[in-house]
Amino acid sequence: MASFDAIIIGGGPGGYVCAIRCAQLGLKVAVVEGRETLGGTCLNVGCIPSKALLNATHHLHEAHENFGKMGLMGPAPTVDWPKMLGYKDDVIGQNTKGIEFLFKKNKVTWIKGWATIPAPGQVKVGDDIHTAKNIVIATGSESSPLNGVTIDEKTVVTSTGALTLEKIPQKLAVIGAGVIGLEMGSVYARLGSEVTVIEYLDAITPGMDAEVAKTFQRILQKQGLKFILGAAVQGVDTTPTGATVRYKRKKTDAEATLDADTVLVATGRRPYTAGLGLDTLGVELLPRGQIKTDAHFATNINGLYAIGDAIIGPMLAHKAEDEGMALAEILAGKSGHVNYAVIPGVIYTTPEVASVGQTEEQLKAEGRAYKTGKFSFMGNGRAKAVFQGDGFVKILADKATDRILGAHIIGPMAGDLIHEICVAMEFGASAQDLALTCHAHPTYSEAVREAALACGDGAIHA
Ligand code: NAI
Repeated sequence: MASFDAIIIGGGPGGYVCAIRCAQLGLKVAVVEGRETLGGTCLNVGCIPSKALLNATHHLHEAHENFGKMGLMGPAPTVDWPKMLGYKDDVIGQNTKGIEFLFKKNKVTWIKGWATIPAPGQVKVGDDIHTAKNIVIATGSESSPLNGVTIDEKTVVTSTGALTLEKIPQKLAVIGAGVIGLEMGSVYARLGSEVTVIEYLDAITPGMDAEVAKTFQRILQKQGLKFILGAAVQGVDTTPTGATVRYKRKKTDAEATLDADTVLVATGRRPYTAGLGLDTLGVELLPRGQIKTDAHFATNINGLYAIGDAIIGPMLAHKAEDEGMALAEILAGKSGHVNYAVIPGVIYTTPEVASVGQTEEQLKAEGRAYKTGKFSFMGNGRAKAVFQGDGFVKILADKATDRILGAHIIGPMAGDLIHEICVAMEFGASAQDLALTCHAHPTYSEAVREAALACGDGAIHA
């Protein structure tokens, strides 16, 4: 038993970042984590391993599609699947060990095990009860169950099982055209699987700028992914050779089936708070299961806070990290703040898709007067040199003040390009501020500047 200024439950991006910042600000801090390794879903079974597989399969795709065009001749590489999975596991190991090192460096105590909160100010792990002035719930999320579907993580898998399949499926059915479905669908399409994505809505990636979503779907289709849109999955039946997905067309009510070796269920995630004892404590939840918090991440129980996927907002690692840092500042008596209007979202396919701020659809719904500056990567020499001219940057700015309201990019390195616009938005910049900033040539970033120019007197290379 030990006493701390703060005990953080969960060692994912929200929890570990909060802990490190607490320690840097002079607090005595511990993290309770039951997994063998730190880093949570993101490092162990999410963002990082999926990026390793996306990287490996991107190179495979390049070798097959583009090497010959560049005069790189010879047989294209074949896939050693166990070795590729091994590479992915090495990447996970390097990252999780990195967090362990940071804990030691910053004197953050790792209490290994699963926590419950028996009473305010107390955290029980195994038979030990630790006390803390502040307890932070950073327990993240888990895949949402889908009616009529039983997950076995072998034939019918969530993103976790999709990262460790025994073999590459010939046919992969993906339920849900959201971020997980499209990233993992891309991985397997590049590995040769026939990938069919079944989506309830009439468009992919709900919430994304509609023009980007349309272009994205067209590009993914060119890469071999098939889409069945406007279809509600009713259930999945496993068969001796795989599984059959049953779905209903929303418009006609017609029922149909799709056979596959493997089915990936990617229909969203929900807060993971089971087993903490929140009921007994009387912690208030929101209707969709998130822990209710105020603007300072405080729950209705004194000294109990929550951040990340367990509370409201986009379920993104970097949103959790920002909340972790802000809360650490608050616990240390400073003022912590997260600007929810400027949280980028990225899909790590090829091309990448990235967005920040408002979409055109949102601005229209608000009746806001805005202008659009758009620039195609076809006009960007660097993008064309790497066969990635298909895509664009779109900047939305207030019609009267020129202040940037949002940006949406589909194209090379979109996930990195977006941050220039995030910084500009944090400073309340106008599109002209970006347009007047010198951008090195030849870079993908020039496309951002051109889109900013297009908000004013016009792009040069359009
Ligand atoms: P999602 O919410 O992004 O997409 C789920 C999709 O499933 C939606 O399009 C929805 O309409 C569809 N759907 C739901 N029920 C259905 C049914 N019965 N039949 C057919 N379609 C159905 O959820 P996803 O992809 O599972 O991701 C979960 C969370 O993880 C998200 O919040 C996402 O932001 C986060 N994530 C973020 C990543 C990134 O930032 N690159 C990577 C992976 C996950």
